[in-house]
Amino acid sequence: MTVDLFSDTQTRPTPGMRAAMARAEVGDEQSGSDPTTNALCARVAELLGMEDAVFMPSGTMCNLAAILVQTRAGDEIVVDDQSHIYNTEAAGAAAIGGVSVRALPTRNGLYTPEQAAAAIRAPQRTAPRSALISVEQTTSFSGGSIWDLAAMRAIRDVAHAHGLKAHIDGARLLNAVAATGIPARAYAEGFDSAWIDLSKGLGCPVGAVLCGTKGFIVEAWRWKYRLGGALRQSGVLAAAGLYALDHHIGQLAEDNANARRLREALAGAPGLAFEPEAGQSNILSFSVAGLGITAAAFAEGCLAQGVRVRALGTEQIRATTHLDVDRAGIARAAAAIRAEAERAFARRG
Ligand SMILES: Cc1ncc(COP(=O)(O)O)c(C=O)c1O
Repeated sequence: MTVDLFSDTQTRPTPGMRAAMARAEVGDEQSGSDPTTNALCARVAELLGMEDAVFMPSGTMCNLAAILVQTRAGDEIVVDDQSHIYNTEAAGAAAIGGVSVRALPTRNGLYTPEQAAAAIRAPQRTAPRSALISVEQTTSFSGGSIWDLAAMRAIRDVAHAHGLKAHIDGARLLNAVAATGIPARAYAEGFDSAWIDLSKGLGCPVGAVLCGTKGFIVEAWRWKYRLGGALRQSGVLAAAGLYALDHHIGQLAEDNANARRLREALAGAPGLAFEPEAGQSNILSFSVAGLGITAAAFAEGCLAQGVRVRALGTEQIRATTHLDVDRAGIARAAAAIRAEAERAFARRG
């Protein structure tokens, strides 16, 4: 069987999760009367220390709704240049909100408070209005690197000092929590909006939960409806989320450890280059530029040996650990990736 490290979105609901979904008490989410969805929203709001929450079909929709609530057409938002918002959300902010994106160059997706401050535009008739700053915890396309709490707070404070809103794309916030022991509510403290994904390391088939103040959630709900995402018996999906929060949080530390094990097992593999922070959470990225082949060719070679990794651009490979890959799978993956690196290196001459 293929060891699938393409993404932590590849997890399949476990039998226990499916049973919880089958048992779910349901109502009508759109009118606020689905008890299981309401329970999930209350649970995640509490986890993040926020006033209120709304269940969303996806993390992409959480980002988009948060942007739409906190900007108006002609505004600009500040993100890092490897961010999910900038690269893989089909320019939703621009297409739907009329919002431009200022993407900061970074190493590993982490920009500095000074970069953030410099990117905020002075009020001027001819300039777009800087309206929102987003931080991705952990970084997705930058090797799962983890934002330092103090740096996140400094960026939040820079945003607020200039009248901007501060947002956390927390697709894998709970992996950061598992790695650092810092509670989710500490990371989210003082931010205007934040969300977590259920369909990644937590192993649910669908869903994400967006949090903020009560007023923010009223407006996020409007956008959810306008975007066509209001639901009915979503308790079936929310039950998976509640089950994951009860049973899968501990797994995130194991996923992080597996990425570290993979990093250690690949030490000294020819032609592979790792950033110093590689393996901080459940995503391991490395460059194959030293092998003289493209990342796509390298990923193909790995797949032929039963290991699926993701090519990012022409040089980077991303391997993401999750609950459907155990320690033995990581050992198999390490052997296959190393063998592929050795083969390519030898061919290079
Ligand atoms: C950092 C980050 N933000 C947002 C998303 C979007 O989440 P979803 O796939 O639930 O739409 C992803 C998904 O990979 C992600 O990695």
